Amino acid sequence: MLTLGIETSCDETSVAIIDENFGILSNVIISQIEIHQMYGGVVPEIAARNHIENILPVLDEALHKANLSLDQIDQVAATTEPGLPGAVMVGRVFGKSLANALNVPFVSVNHLYGHMASLRLSNSNLQPPMLCLLVSGGHTILYQVNQNWETKMLCTTADDAVGEAFDKVARVLGLAYPGGPKISQYANMGLPIVPILNKFPKNCFSYSGLKTAVLNYINHEKQKGNQINLPEICANFQYCAVSQLLTKVREYLQQTQIKTLGICGGVSANQYLRDQFTAMCKELGVQLFLPRPELCGDNAAMIAAAAVLGIK
Ligand code: KG4
Ligand code: ZN
Repeated sequence: MLTLGIETSCDETSVAIIDENFGILSNVIISQIEIHQMYGGVVPEIAARNHIENILPVLDEALHKANLSLDQIDQVAATTEPGLPGAVMVGRVFGKSLANALNVPFVSVNHLYGHMASLRLSNSNLQPPMLCLLVSGGHTILYQVNQNWETKMLCTTADDAVGEAFDKVARVLGLAYPGGPKISQYANMGLPIVPILNKFPKNCFSYSGLKTAVLNYINHEKQKGNQINLPEICANFQYCAVSQLLTKVREYLQQTQIKTLGICGGVSANQYLRDQFTAMCKELGVQLFLPRPELCGDNAAMIAAAAVLGIK
C-alpha cells in the first residue's frame, strides 16, 4: 500500500512516497527560502507561482528516488488546509487531478495533523493517548490525542504563533528569514540576563506581548546610544518563548495525568526547547517524542503519514 503525499502550503514544494509501515521511500523537498529571503518573509503570490514550476520535477524526482512508477501508487494525499490560499491550491488541485487520472482515492490532509504524523514517522513505538504540542510559524496549539488519533484542541495562542515571534524578532534584529534557526544560533552564545517581560495570559499562549517587549527594549537601548548585545537578547527571547510553553504543558500534563507528550512543527527543531522539555518530562515521568530533525519542517512524508493514520 503506497501513499504519495504532496505539500505546498507555504514555501516548500514537497512530494513523498511512504508505505503502510511508515517507511519513507522518498521525501523530496524544494525550499523557496532563498527567493523569499530578500523580502524578509514569504510572499504568497511568489510562493504559489514557484510551486507551479516545481511540482512536476519534484514528483518525478520522488518517483525516481523510490524507484517506482505512477501506476504503483495506491492513494494520493495533499495538504488542503490551512496555508497560504494560492500556495495550498497548487498542491490540492495537482493532487486531486493526479488521483483522478490514476483512478485512486484522494485524501485531503490538514497540514497541522501532518506535523503530528511526523512524530509517528520518527518513532515506531509511539502510540497515543498523548498530549501533542504543535509549534510552527503559523500555529501554537496543545492537543489531546486519543488512541484512534482523534484530536481535541486544549489550548491555542491568543495572538502570534511562537515561530512567528521568532521570525518577527529576528527581522528587527536584522537577521535573515526564517528567524528561528538564527536566533537559536545567537542564543547559544549568550545568557538570558537582559530583563525582558515574560508575562502571558492564564488560559492560552500569547507571543505578541513578548515580541513588543523585545522591540521596546531594542528601541530604548538604541535611544540611549547603547550597543545591542545580540546573543543576550536572543537568549532572553528564546528563554521567555520556551518557558511559556513549558509552564502551560506542565499544567496540562499534571491535570490530565497523560504520560506521553509529542512536540512537532518547525520550532520543535530548536535544541534549547528539546533540552528543556527533555528535562521536564524526565522530572514528571512523561515519555517525550520528537520528530527527527529533517522531519520538523514542512515535508510531504508527514502529509502522507497523516493520511495513513487517518488523524481527525
Ligand atoms: O512548521 P514550519 O516549517 O512551517 C509552518 O507550518 O509554519 O515552521 C516554520 C517555523 C518558522 O517560524 C521558523 O522560524 C521556525 O519554524 N523554526 C525555528 C527553528 N527552526 C525553524 N524556531 C526556533 N528554533 C529553530 N531552530
Ligand atoms: Zn508546517
